[in-house]
Amino acid sequence: MESFMFENKTVLTGVKPTGKPHLGNYLGAIKPAIELGKEALSQGGKHYMFIADYHAINAEKNPAVLNEMTKEIACIYLACGLDPKKSYFYRQSDIPEIPEITTILYAYTPKGFMNKAHAYKAAVDKNREAGKPDDDGINMGLYTYPTLMAADILAYDSDIVPVGKDQVQHVEIARDIAGAINAHYGKELLKLPTYRFDENVAVVAGIDGRKMSKSYGNVIPLFEDDKAIKKAIFSIKTDSRPMEEPKNPDEILVYEIYKSIATPEQLQEMGDGLRQGKLGYGYIKNMLLDAVVNEIKDAREKYNYYMAHFNEVEEMLLEGAEKARPVAKATLKRLKDAVFGR
Ligand code: TRP
Repeated sequence: MESFMFENKTVLTGVKPTGKPHLGNYLGAIKPAIELGKEALSQGGKHYMFIADYHAINAEKNPAVLNEMTKEIACIYLACGLDPKKSYFYRQSDIPEIPEITTILYAYTPKGFMNKAHAYKAAVDKNREAGKPDDDGINMGLYTYPTLMAADILAYDSDIVPVGKDQVQHVEIARDIAGAINAHYGKELLKLPTYRFDENVAVVAGIDGRKMSKSYGNVIPLFEDDKAIKKAIFSIKTDSRPMEEPKNPDEILVYEIYKSIATPEQLQEMGDGLRQGKLGYGYIKNMLLDAVVNEIKDAREKYNYYMAHFNEVEEMLLEGAEKARPVAKATLKRLKDAVFGR
């Protein structure tokens, strides 16, 4: 059963262009998303992976920055193994049907859904904390964000949307909107999507022990040179105990981060060395560095290639959009026919 769960299913993921990912993004989001897509394809399912650049403009207004971030994210996914011949790989902004579908969905989206959406609520909370008016600096793009996301999902008859915890609510909103439209017209105009939230996906610790996150400034970069990776790894917090003192590996942050990337044998080696007082902090940091560089070096090389030959990537994205568009077009037509009684 389990092994054929993707047969005839459409799996769709959107990624916001956010610039170069760190180790936590890579292990916690990018790698599992690409693997899941491959699994779906191998079972006869379909896989959509797109860059949510319309979502990005709510926060980023500098075209040069936006363009660079979009380029980076496209190259990263290709470098990490996404196959644009097998998956549908495109930019959201290359599919004009998406904003059209969004407009129709608005008419079926209770405003209350948007009030409750967590991205909006988080922005309001932040304003309150800063003593500003609730809606200070909040644009309609951010406010209506879940409806655009619903269009992304519903346009392609998606069955499964793999998400992080923060996106579960958005998929539920998409499902509710689709359900309301189907109920109103008495037929299945839109496929009801489900989310897939993987509890087992790694949450990687950062170099200060908190969750690795750009906003904490505690990341291990990946798509930079070895020197930058080394610098971050050698800044991982350690204590001043001498090497000879036997240590509990579970109290050592380097070991904690190593867990997310090392093989069981490598992990055993570091654990034993710490317990027996045979490995110093410098040594184990080098072990971690080797593991990180080893994991990323091929992808990094491909990434650098794609960034230097972006015209090739641009072509792939346009081909992907051409492949995806007819599906979105068909959905839009179904909706318009029903809504306008054509
Ligand atoms: N909101 C998602 C995020 O911030 C990105 C996204 C946009 C998305 N549209 C989507 C994800 C559709 C899944 C499906 O990560």
